[in-house]
Amino acid sequence: MALTLDDFYTWVDSQSLKIRGKKLTEVERCILHGSIKGLSYEALAADSRFEKAYLQNTAGPGLWRFLQQILGEEYRIGKPYIKDVVEELIDTVGVLPGDDRVWNAGRSQSNIDYLPSTEKLYGRSSELKKLLMRTQDSRCIVITGQVGIGKSSLAAKLIDLVSRSDDYEFDYYIWKSIYHGPHLEDLYQNIIQDINQDSKDRDKDYSSDEFIRFLKVNRCFLILDEADSILKGDNINPYGEKYIGYGYLLRRVVEESHNSVVVLTSRENFKDLDELSQAKKPVTTFHLTGLSASESLEIYEEYALQGRDDWLKITDQYRGNPLALHNIADRIKDFFDGKISRFIEYETIWLGSSFPSRFDQQFGIGGRLSLLEMQILVLMAQQLEIDDSITLDSLITHIIDEQQFSTSKSQILEALNSLTERSVIEKEFTAKALEFRMPPVIRKYLLTDPSGAVKARISQKV
Ligand SMILES: Nc1ncnc2c1ncn2[C@@H]1O[C@H](COP(=O)(O)OP(=O)(O)OP(=O)(O)O)[C@@H](O)[C@H]1O
Ligand SMILES: [Mg+2]
Repeated sequence: MALTLDDFYTWVDSQSLKIRGKKLTEVERCILHGSIKGLSYEALAADSRFEKAYLQNTAGPGLWRFLQQILGEEYRIGKPYIKDVVEELIDTVGVLPGDDRVWNAGRSQSNIDYLPSTEKLYGRSSELKKLLMRTQDSRCIVITGQVGIGKSSLAAKLIDLVSRSDDYEFDYYIWKSIYHGPHLEDLYQNIIQDINQDSKDRDKDYSSDEFIRFLKVNRCFLILDEADSILKGDNINPYGEKYIGYGYLLRRVVEESHNSVVVLTSRENFKDLDELSQAKKPVTTFHLTGLSASESLEIYEEYALQGRDDWLKITDQYRGNPLALHNIADRIKDFFDGKISRFIEYETIWLGSSFPSRFDQQFGIGGRLSLLEMQILVLMAQQLEIDDSITLDSLITHIIDEQQFSTSKSQILEALNSLTERSVIEKEFTAKALEFRMPPVIRKYLLTDPSGAVKARISQKV
């Protein structure tokens, strides 16, 4: 039977219910339906009770990110593309993603919301080896790294390997994306009830005690993907008011005796868990960096590109970030007939379609960065257009003298430290001084500000 647009909307709602615990919101529905009709944000705002800036800078990016997640990376998702994507799905493909992505967990029962495809995951064998070892002796593992570096893909591969191996005997393999920052009670309910399908207590609220008991009775391998969504606080309480319960829960997961493993993927460190790790508790932070040259060459082969040495230069320039490398390879294939040298002649940094929405989450309103951190970033991005790197001294002078922020040197140092920890900027000790750089995709994003999220965040003034 042929697919209809209504089938598509029903499918999106059901995916949303499964992954985020709710159907599309009114504003999301307004954007999705309107965009498929080809309406601009301006027209949508005129037709609804929502402001254009809210549609474009806040609700829109989240919606595109979610659709990207459920439709998969093979589709280019965003306002300009969604109409064509949906038409292609309905007219040509005829099947909605997920229908054919049933993941088999081997001998155990599983609960998989959405698992990124691991089919074309290159290399990462040493990372997986380390993670498999840590799975034996940790109760919690945090995989950190910058946007698009491959955290979710690696975690997906890990759950796949663990479930197939005879060395691990988990009862359940559970994958939950928590990028929407669910209330802890909703997460408990979602996990426990999904597993106890026949339970009569459909509306029962579970407490942390009950959840910990659940982890003790059932050996679970639980992945909470995009866990940085619950880091909404500050240095003292990283979780903020709303998510403070997650902090207590994770501490209990580490400190109480059980045989489950909870894996988090996050763009940021969990400082409280790092402290537990330093105190030799069974928790590990694993920082993921870019692909090596040989791993990156597999992407080069996949896209049948030409110019091996040029590709290695690009790999270096983009710090081996697989999301960036896929985007560029795609572009070179489409625009330059696979010839990398012709792309290089353009001397451009290619952001692609997936980065802006991911960066909007990180740098826009609702992201984790303080106003000072954002101001420093924008200033650095401007400076780094002129020079390759900037020394600590000239950065501080620049910030204090030229921009006249009412900020002390120690606040600036703290901000630089936190930006470095989040892999947003990079520091290097040279013979002369401490120097800072910025990954080119981040610099380009900050300077071009494609959806206006940076400007909106900076003008928030707090
Ligand atoms: N080892 C790899 N080989 C080839 N492609 C990879 C590899 N790792 C990741 N990718 C691809 O790079 C893209 C980004 O990966 P992924 O979504 O896992 O990154 P992430 O670190 O979870 O990003 P985010 O911080 O936005 O959640 C995906 O398209 C994925 O398929
Ligand atoms: Mg991810």
